[in-house]
Amino acid sequence: MGQYETFLETARAVALEAGTLLRDRLDRPNEVRFKSEINIVTEADTAAQALIFDRLSAAYPGHDFLAEEGLKAFSGAEYRWVFDPLDGTTNYAHKLPVFCVSLGLERRGALVLGLVHNPMTGDFFWAEEGGGAFHNGRPIRVSAVADLGQSLLATGFSYDVWTTRCNLAEHERMMLRAQGVRRCGSAALDLCFVACGRFDGFWELKLNPWDTAGGAVIVREAGGRITDFSGRPVDIYRPEVCASNGLIHGAMLEALRGESGKG
Ligand code: IPD
Ligand code: CA
Ligand code: CA
Repeated sequence: MGQYETFLETARAVALEAGTLLRDRLDRPNEVRFKSEINIVTEADTAAQALIFDRLSAAYPGHDFLAEEGLKAFSGAEYRWVFDPLDGTTNYAHKLPVFCVSLGLERRGALVLGLVHNPMTGDFFWAEEGGGAFHNGRPIRVSAVADLGQSLLATGFSYDVWTTRCNLAEHERMMLRAQGVRRCGSAALDLCFVACGRFDGFWELKLNPWDTAGGAVIVREAGGRITDFSGRPVDIYRPEVCASNGLIHGAMLEALRGESGKG
Protein backbone atom coordinates (compact mmCIF):
# COMPACT_ATOMS: atom_id res chain seq x y z
CA MET A 1 0.00 0.00 0.00
CA GLY A 2 1.49 3.31 -1.13
CA GLN A 3 1.99 6.34 1.08
CA TYR A 4 -0.78 8.23 -0.70
CA GLU A 5 -3.20 5.31 -1.07
CA THR A 6 -6.09 6.97 0.76
CA PHE A 7 -5.70 10.17 -1.28
CA LEU A 8 -5.58 8.04 -4.40
CA GLU A 9 -8.78 6.18 -3.48
CA THR A 10 -10.64 9.41 -2.69
CA ALA A 11 -9.43 11.08 -5.88
CA ARG A 12 -10.30 8.04 -7.96
CA ALA A 13 -13.90 8.08 -6.70
CA VAL A 14 -14.13 11.83 -7.34
CA ALA A 15 -12.69 11.54 -10.88
CA LEU A 16 -15.14 8.75 -11.69
CA GLU A 17 -18.05 10.81 -10.39
CA ALA A 18 -16.95 13.87 -12.38
CA GLY A 19 -16.47 11.67 -15.46
CA THR A 20 -20.02 10.38 -15.12
CA LEU A 21 -21.28 13.97 -14.89
CA LEU A 22 -19.42 14.89 -18.10
CA ARG A 23 -20.67 11.79 -19.94
CA ASP A 24 -24.27 12.32 -18.84
CA ARG A 25 -24.26 15.93 -19.99
CA LEU A 26 -22.58 15.31 -23.33
CA ASP A 27 -25.80 14.88 -25.27
CA ARG A 28 -27.69 17.60 -23.46
CA PRO A 29 -27.60 21.12 -24.78
CA ASN A 30 -24.69 22.75 -22.92
CA GLU A 31 -24.44 26.49 -22.78
CA VAL A 32 -21.09 27.59 -24.21
CA ARG A 33 -19.36 30.80 -23.13
CA PHE A 34 -16.41 32.31 -24.99
CA LYS A 35 -13.34 33.18 -22.90
CA SER A 36 -11.75 34.42 -26.14
CA GLU A 37 -12.55 33.96 -29.82
CA ILE A 38 -11.81 30.20 -29.74
CA ASN A 39 -11.39 29.45 -26.03
CA ILE A 40 -14.70 28.20 -24.71
CA VAL A 41 -16.10 27.02 -21.43
CA THR A 42 -19.23 24.89 -21.18
CA GLU A 43 -21.63 24.40 -18.28
CA ALA A 44 -20.09 20.95 -17.93
CA ASP A 45 -16.64 22.44 -17.17
CA THR A 46 -18.02 24.51 -14.31
CA ALA A 47 -20.32 21.77 -12.98
CA ALA A 48 -17.49 19.20 -12.97
CA GLN A 49 -15.16 21.68 -11.26
CA ALA A 50 -17.76 22.41 -8.55
CA LEU A 51 -18.30 18.71 -7.95
CA ILE A 52 -14.58 17.93 -7.65
CA PHE A 53 -13.95 20.91 -5.38
CA ASP A 54 -16.95 20.03 -3.16
CA ARG A 55 -15.85 16.43 -2.73
CA LEU A 56 -12.12 17.07 -2.24
CA SER A 57 -12.53 20.08 0.03
CA ALA A 58 -15.02 18.14 2.17
CA ALA A 59 -12.55 15.24 2.45
CA TYR A 60 -9.49 17.50 2.88
CA PRO A 61 -10.59 20.87 4.27
CA GLY A 62 -6.99 21.86 5.03
CA HIS A 63 -5.70 21.37 1.49
CA ASP A 64 -5.16 24.00 -1.23
CA PHE A 65 -6.81 23.91 -4.66
CA LEU A 66 -6.07 25.23 -8.14
CA ALA A 67 -8.28 24.56 -11.16
CA GLU A 68 -8.91 26.06 -14.57
CA GLU A 69 -12.26 27.78 -14.13
CA GLY A 70 -11.13 30.43 -11.67
CA LEU A 71 -10.47 28.27 -8.63
CA LYS A 72 -7.49 29.34 -6.57
CA ALA A 73 -7.78 28.53 -2.86
CA PHE A 74 -4.31 28.89 -1.37
CA SER A 75 -3.46 29.01 2.33
CA GLY A 76 0.10 27.70 2.17
CA ALA A 77 -1.06 24.16 2.94
CA GLU A 78 1.26 21.16 2.61
CA TYR A 79 -0.96 19.64 -0.09
CA ARG A 80 -2.35 21.30 -3.22
CA TRP A 81 -4.76 19.67 -5.67
CA VAL A 82 -4.23 20.97 -9.21
CA PHE A 83 -6.97 19.83 -11.54
CA ASP A 84 -8.66 20.30 -14.87
CA PRO A 85 -12.32 19.29 -14.55
CA LEU A 86 -12.58 18.89 -18.33
CA ASP A 87 -9.45 18.70 -20.45
CA GLY A 88 -10.52 18.72 -24.08
CA THR A 89 -13.36 21.25 -23.90
CA THR A 90 -13.40 21.98 -27.63
CA ASN A 91 -13.74 18.24 -28.35
CA TYR A 92 -16.48 18.04 -25.71
CA ALA A 93 -18.42 20.91 -27.24
CA HIS A 94 -18.32 19.06 -30.59
CA LYS A 95 -19.22 15.72 -28.94
CA LEU A 96 -15.87 14.21 -29.91
CA PRO A 97 -15.26 11.63 -27.17
CA VAL A 98 -11.65 12.63 -26.53
CA PHE A 99 -11.62 14.45 -23.20
CA CYS A 100 -10.91 13.68 -19.59
CA VAL A 101 -10.85 14.69 -15.96
CA SER A 102 -7.27 15.30 -14.81
CA LEU A 103 -6.15 15.58 -11.18
CA GLY A 104 -2.70 16.10 -9.72
CA LEU A 105 -1.63 16.39 -6.09
CA GLU A 106 1.40 18.34 -4.95
CA ARG A 107 3.06 17.93 -1.59
CA ARG A 108 5.20 20.94 -0.67
CA GLY A 109 5.44 21.78 -4.36
CA ALA A 110 6.39 18.29 -5.58
CA LEU A 111 3.91 16.26 -7.61
CA VAL A 112 3.06 13.01 -5.83
CA LEU A 113 -0.15 11.76 -7.45
CA GLY A 114 -1.73 11.93 -10.89
CA LEU A 115 -5.09 10.63 -12.15
CA VAL A 116 -6.59 10.99 -15.63
CA HIS A 117 -9.96 9.55 -16.62
CA ASN A 118 -11.80 9.49 -19.95
CA PRO A 119 -15.41 8.55 -19.11
CA MET A 120 -16.25 7.75 -22.76
CA THR A 121 -13.67 4.98 -23.12
CA GLY A 122 -13.40 4.00 -19.45
CA ASP A 123 -9.65 4.68 -19.59
CA PHE A 124 -8.26 5.37 -16.13
CA PHE A 125 -4.60 6.25 -15.73
CA TRP A 126 -2.96 6.90 -12.41
CA ALA A 127 0.41 7.04 -10.72
CA GLU A 128 1.82 7.63 -7.29
CA GLU A 129 5.34 8.98 -6.74
CA GLY A 130 7.66 5.98 -6.49
CA GLY A 131 4.86 3.46 -7.06
CA GLY A 132 4.75 3.08 -10.85
CA ALA A 133 2.04 4.06 -13.32
CA PHE A 134 -1.14 2.16 -14.16
CA HIS A 135 -3.82 2.00 -16.82
CA ASN A 136 -7.06 0.31 -15.75
CA GLY A 137 -5.18 -1.66 -13.10
CA ARG A 138 -2.25 -2.77 -15.27
CA PRO A 139 1.29 -1.37 -14.99
CA ILE A 140 2.33 0.74 -17.96
CA ARG A 141 5.65 1.75 -19.48
CA VAL A 142 6.77 4.17 -22.13
CA SER A 143 7.73 2.86 -25.59
CA ALA A 144 11.18 1.63 -26.63
CA VAL A 145 11.37 3.58 -29.91
CA ALA A 146 14.81 5.21 -30.06
CA ASP A 147 14.65 7.00 -33.40
CA LEU A 148 12.68 10.21 -33.89
CA GLY A 149 12.06 9.17 -37.49
CA GLN A 150 10.17 6.10 -36.25
CA SER A 151 8.24 8.01 -33.60
CA LEU A 152 4.58 8.92 -33.35
CA LEU A 153 4.29 12.24 -31.56
CA ALA A 154 1.47 14.40 -30.28
CA THR A 155 1.15 18.12 -29.76
CA GLY A 156 -1.39 20.83 -29.09
CA PHE A 157 -1.92 24.52 -29.74
CA SER A 158 -2.88 27.19 -27.27
CA TYR A 159 -5.90 29.44 -27.77
CA ASP A 160 -3.92 32.61 -28.55
CA VAL A 161 -2.95 31.41 -32.04
CA TRP A 162 -3.22 34.86 -33.58
CA THR A 163 -1.38 36.86 -31.00
CA THR A 164 1.87 35.14 -30.00
CA ARG A 165 4.28 32.33 -30.90
CA CYS A 166 1.96 29.43 -31.40
CA ASN A 167 3.74 26.18 -32.32
CA LEU A 168 3.34 26.34 -36.10
CA ALA A 169 7.12 26.40 -36.75
CA GLU A 170 7.78 23.65 -34.17
CA HIS A 171 4.94 21.59 -35.61
CA GLU A 172 6.37 21.90 -39.11
CA ARG A 173 9.86 20.85 -37.98
CA MET A 174 8.49 17.82 -36.12
CA MET A 175 6.32 16.83 -39.07
CA LEU A 176 9.47 16.72 -41.20
CA ARG A 177 11.46 14.65 -38.69
CA ALA A 178 8.99 12.23 -37.06
CA GLN A 179 6.90 9.38 -38.43
CA GLY A 180 3.75 11.30 -37.59
CA VAL A 181 2.30 14.03 -35.40
CA ARG A 182 -1.22 13.92 -33.92
CA ARG A 183 -3.33 16.65 -32.34
CA CYS A 184 -5.93 14.98 -30.13
CA GLY A 185 -7.14 18.05 -28.20
CA SER A 186 -6.47 16.89 -24.64
CA ALA A 187 -2.98 17.45 -23.27
CA ALA A 188 -3.64 15.25 -20.23
CA LEU A 189 -4.61 12.30 -22.43
CA ASP A 190 -1.62 12.98 -24.72
CA LEU A 191 0.67 12.67 -21.69
CA CYS A 192 -0.99 9.40 -20.65
CA PHE A 193 -0.60 8.06 -24.18
CA VAL A 194 3.14 8.78 -23.93
CA ALA A 195 3.16 6.97 -20.58
CA CYS A 196 1.58 3.83 -22.02
CA GLY A 197 3.63 3.84 -25.23
CA ARG A 198 0.92 4.79 -27.72
CA PHE A 199 2.83 7.99 -28.42
CA ASP A 200 6.62 8.21 -28.20
CA GLY A 201 6.61 11.90 -27.39
CA PHE A 202 4.49 15.00 -26.84
CA TRP A 203 5.19 18.72 -26.63
CA GLU A 204 3.31 21.93 -26.14
CA LEU A 205 4.50 25.51 -25.86
CA LYS A 206 1.94 27.00 -23.53
CA LEU A 207 0.26 24.68 -21.09
CA ASN A 208 -1.22 25.61 -17.75
CA PRO A 209 -0.59 23.82 -14.43
CA TRP A 210 -3.96 22.02 -14.56
CA ASP A 211 -3.19 20.61 -18.04
CA THR A 212 0.11 19.07 -16.92
CA ALA A 213 -0.23 18.15 -13.23
CA GLY A 214 -1.99 14.78 -13.55
CA GLY A 215 -0.14 13.49 -16.61
CA ALA A 216 3.35 14.56 -15.49
CA VAL A 217 3.44 12.09 -12.58
CA ILE A 218 2.07 9.35 -14.83
CA VAL A 219 4.78 9.91 -17.50
CA ARG A 220 7.56 9.94 -14.93
CA GLU A 221 6.32 6.85 -13.13
CA ALA A 222 6.00 5.02 -16.46
CA GLY A 223 9.73 5.56 -17.03
CA GLY A 224 9.41 8.62 -19.28
CA ARG A 225 11.03 12.02 -19.19
CA ILE A 226 9.20 15.33 -18.92
CA THR A 227 11.05 18.65 -19.16
CA ASP A 228 10.92 22.15 -20.56
CA PHE A 229 12.56 22.83 -23.93
CA SER A 230 15.94 23.39 -22.25
CA GLY A 231 15.83 19.94 -20.67
CA ARG A 232 15.10 21.14 -17.12
CA PRO A 233 12.66 18.96 -15.13
CA VAL A 234 9.13 20.09 -15.84
CA ASP A 235 7.68 22.84 -13.68
CA ILE A 236 3.90 22.81 -14.11
CA TYR A 237 3.81 26.56 -13.43
CA ARG A 238 5.89 27.20 -16.54
CA PRO A 239 4.33 26.78 -19.98
CA GLU A 240 6.75 24.59 -22.01
CA VAL A 241 6.31 20.83 -21.79
CA CYS A 242 8.21 18.12 -23.64
CA ALA A 243 7.43 14.53 -22.61
CA SER A 244 8.87 11.39 -24.12
CA ASN A 245 10.02 7.85 -23.62
CA GLY A 246 13.44 9.33 -22.76
CA LEU A 247 15.16 7.77 -25.76
CA ILE A 248 14.05 10.40 -28.28
CA HIS A 249 14.06 13.29 -25.82
CA GLY A 250 17.33 14.86 -27.01
CA ALA A 251 16.21 14.70 -30.64
CA MET A 252 12.86 16.26 -29.74
CA LEU A 253 14.52 19.13 -27.86
CA GLU A 254 16.86 19.75 -30.81
CA ALA A 255 13.93 19.87 -33.19
CA LEU A 256 11.97 22.19 -30.88
CA ARG A 257 14.93 24.54 -30.73
CA GLY A 258 15.39 24.35 -34.49
CA GLU A 259 18.80 22.70 -34.26
CA SER A 260 20.33 20.21 -36.77
CA GLY A 261 18.37 17.58 -38.70
CA LYS A 262 15.87 18.00 -41.52
CA GLY A 263 13.24 20.66 -41.48
C1 IPD B 1 -6.56 22.38 -23.80
C2 IPD B 1 -6.25 20.98 -24.27
C3 IPD B 1 -5.54 21.03 -25.60
C4 IPD B 1 -4.27 21.85 -25.52
C5 IPD B 1 -4.57 23.24 -25.00
C6 IPD B 1 -5.29 23.15 -23.66
P1 IPD B 1 -8.82 22.62 -22.36
O1 IPD B 1 -7.21 22.34 -22.53
O2 IPD B 1 -5.46 20.30 -23.34
O3 IPD B 1 -5.15 19.74 -26.04
O4 IPD B 1 -3.68 21.92 -26.79
O5 IPD B 1 -3.35 23.94 -24.86
O6 IPD B 1 -5.58 24.46 -23.21
O7 IPD B 1 -9.05 24.06 -22.68
O8 IPD B 1 -9.54 21.71 -23.27
O9 IPD B 1 -9.02 22.31 -20.91
CA1 CA C 1 -6.85 21.77 -20.19
CA1 CA D 1 -10.25 22.54 -19.08
